[in-house]
Amino acid sequence: MTGKAYLVGAGPGRADLITVRGLTVLRQADAVIYDRLIAASLLDEAPPHAERIFVGKRPGCHTFRQDGITETLVRLVRAGLQVVRLKGGDPGVFAHLVEEATALAAAGLPFEIVPGVSSALAVPLHAGIPLTWRGVASAFTVVSGHEVTPDGCSGVSWALLAASPTLVVLMALGRLEQVCAHLIAAGRDPATPAALISRGASCDQRLLLATLAALPAYQQNAQLPPPAVLVVGEVAKLASALAWFDPMSVATEPMLWEER
Ligand SMILES: C[S@@+](CC[C@H](N)C(=O)[O-])C[C@H]1O[C@@H](n2cnc3c(N)ncnc32)[C@H](O)[C@@H]1O
Repeated sequence: MTGKAYLVGAGPGRADLITVRGLTVLRQADAVIYDRLIAASLLDEAPPHAERIFVGKRPGCHTFRQDGITETLVRLVRAGLQVVRLKGGDPGVFAHLVEEATALAAAGLPFEIVPGVSSALAVPLHAGIPLTWRGVASAFTVVSGHEVTPDGCSGVSWALLAASPTLVVLMALGRLEQVCAHLIAAGRDPATPAALISRGASCDQRLLLATLAALPAYQQNAQLPPPAVLVVGEVAKLASALAWFDPMSVATEPMLWEER
């Protein structure tokens, strides 16, 4: 039997944000390679015989190296298995998709990419914040808070980021203070609405709303846990008016984000 890899987005938070296609291939998997930021109950969707391989971070342990993950994926597909590589959100957004898909292609192995609902869009939306708003914000930029330098973030200058109508920062907690300070120094109004959404689309969702200038101090006090998404822009002020999501309405289920 010919093996095949499925690089699948699980969506953020609640298990039922995975796509129908994602669930279909998960239910046919011989092996699932998964990391954190997914709902643990999704693993129950794989057949009983499927091997479940965790490759996320565990407290006090070494992170799995990306090349080790890629090697495992290639080895299992080469052995003839249907392998689902399950990733939080969308597999094409800050998720090492290129490394894994390139290795599969180089090995001549078939693969399919199953898009997912990215936290960049769905987490703000679960806090009542759409990324665009007719007449107010007609563009958005998504960057990684792990890629902060004095010159910019994710290779984009602070001046351009400060000018983006809506700015979304993933992996936002570690450098929150620097991100907000750089944006203000680059010309963004310190009074711009800003939102920090922690553990979005889940029963643990929490939200901080403040101005761009005040948000780091609020977070210092509140200590919202990771993972979190930062949204900067006028759209953030919709959070109160459009609040629709009740975290208590989602089944309390184990999430894998405890393992940072
Ligand atoms: C390595 S990136 C992966 C992004 C993912 N591929 C996606 O499309 O959502 C991890 C970051 O995604 C964001 N994230 C993922 N799930 C989240 C959630 N349920 N609530 C808040 N942020 C989340 C956080 O900013 C986290 O640090």
